Amino acid sequence: MTLRYALLGDPVDHSISPAMHRAAFRSWGLDAEYVARKVASEDIGRAMRDPDLAGGNVTLPHKLRAAEALVRPSRAVRATGACNCWWRRADGELEGDNTDVGGLRLALERVGFEAGGARVLVLGAGGAARGAVHALLEGGASSIEILNRTAARARALMEAAGTRAVRVVEAPELGASYDLVLNATSLGLAAADPLPLALDRGRFDLAYDLVYAAGRTRWVRHARSLGIRAGDGLEMLVGQAALSLERWFPGRATPHHAMRAAAVQALDARAGRGSGRGSGA
Ligand SMILES: NC(=O)c1ccc[n+]([C@@H]2O[C@H](COP(=O)([O-])OP(=O)(O)OC[C@H]3O[C@@H](n4cnc5c(N)ncnc54)[C@H](OP(=O)(O)O)[C@@H]3O)[C@@H](O)[C@H]2O)c1
Repeated sequence: MTLRYALLGDPVDHSISPAMHRAAFRSWGLDAEYVARKVASEDIGRAMRDPDLAGGNVTLPHKLRAAEALVRPSRAVRATGACNCWWRRADGELEGDNTDVGGLRLALERVGFEAGGARVLVLGAGGAARGAVHALLEGGASSIEILNRTAARARALMEAAGTRAVRVVEAPELGASYDLVLNATSLGLAAADPLPLALDRGRFDLAYDLVYAAGRTRWVRHARSLGIRAGDGLEMLVGQAALSLERWFPGRATPHHAMRAAAVQALDARAGRGSGRGSGA
């Protein structure tokens, strides 16, 4: 019997998740399929409980509501209030995780970043920033400063973190040096967007952009032009997909290279169709 998994969101038509998961199923020779379904916010719980589905992913704007549908949320779901991956237990109940958190951790490891003791500047204070702060604190970051357009949202994130290691900053108060600056704003999704932050050489050791685009984001290119090491959100996207597969198929080695190649190919094809935008999943 074919196992069925789905990406639930709105919109989902530009998502490259189906390409990554299908590549994994093909490489495993598994009789499984992965589809993208556009779902309205009020229907997310019902869509996750569809008996036809063994599990799936959730993308914008449903990650918070998806967390409410779980009987057993993971630690990352409890800490962030968001779920991007769920699966059905043998008794029919739903379990879920926030694999964006682990996906970011994997992506940062791949660019050689060690969170332990690190000083980090996070741009943005939305759902992705919340997941990033959780991942960085778990990794042992010593200081996380949050810079966001709306200061009240940054303060809410700081208060939710509940530790003095996290504080809110304004642009003129930036420190002299950071091990990592991380873009968790949605700036960069549109070609005409301004840079999330103009960087200067010497202040930042590494720049990581959660946004991804065919041929690298403008911010990543800006960082590299200054000699700052930089990576984009594609690696995180592949990481969260690989971790989702580990939740659904414990013990199987995920075909990271095949998934990454499928993601790049889908992103290039999408850019050729006129939209190289990188969305959450
Ligand atoms: N690579 C991956 O796997 C992955 C996974 C998850 C998310 N993401 C990406 O992460 C980004 C953020 O996602 P999210 O879920 O956190 O979105 P969100 O909850 O809507 O938050 C958006 C953030 O961007 C800021 N922002 C938006 N427009 C801005 C502007 N014109 N100027 C300055 N700041 C602006 C917002 O500031 P205000 O608070 O002032 O509105 C907020 O901090 C998206 O681009 C998403 O694609 C990538």
